Amino acid sequence: MASPFDVLEVDSDADDEEIERAYRRRVKEAHPDHGGSAREFQLVYTAYRQVMAGNTDAELEVASEADADERDTASAAESEADPSAPEEEPEPEETGSKVEFLNYEILADHGWQIDDDDLFEKASEANLDQGDYGRFFVQPRENLLEAAENRGFSWPYSCRGGACANCAIAVVDGAVEMPSNHILPSSMTDSGIQLSCISRPVTDEMKVVYNVKSLPGLDELRLPSDPFDNAQLND
Ligand code: FES
Repeated sequence: MASPFDVLEVDSDADDEEIERAYRRRVKEAHPDHGGSAREFQLVYTAYRQVMAGNTDAELEVASEADADERDTASAAESEADPSAPEEEPEPEETGSKVEFLNYEILADHGWQIDDDDLFEKASEANLDQGDYGRFFVQPRENLLEAAENRGFSWPYSCRGGACANCAIAVVDGAVEMPSNHILPSSMTDSGIQLSCISRPVTDEMKVVYNVKSLPGLDELRLPSDPFDNAQLND
């Protein structure tokens, strides 16, 4: 058993910024694509949620040494395998709503517009970085921002409560429900602009452009200081 702070590898008196930094580092280490496991990944996420909720007395069950040995053995066997064999893709979590996403900030680099009819088709053929274009599944308990983070992506945010526009996304296909919204005018929500921190998919499939906070009209709604403006995708 370990405290949430131990899991995140931060001191118990760490401030929010240190905790965020530790979470980003740990969630990357624990991601199955980076040598971790789904169990480790969930553990780190649970620890982060508990620390942020102030529930720091909770004890979390960490992976046993037997689990770790099993994983080491498996990865050793993997590295001894025939190098010419194709790499096995990690098992994706394929339940829930499928979200295909694209980073707004790279559109200009490719001469694309957000309202291009074939935007996602072009993106799928452009060999983009995995943080800029990809897919993940959103579980019923998750909002879009949480789902992205739980899969190892760093999407912009600030308040996490529907009170700024830092987490804004453009829903290109599909639909979300957004229970409370204090800032977006209906003209924006009607055109598909939503807040990922409070939006949950209500369709089986969606296409969203994230990181649209610099779109005209959204810039002035953002919180003035956004500690994550400079965050790198999958940092
Ligand atoms: S992070 Fe502020 S509205 Fe979503």
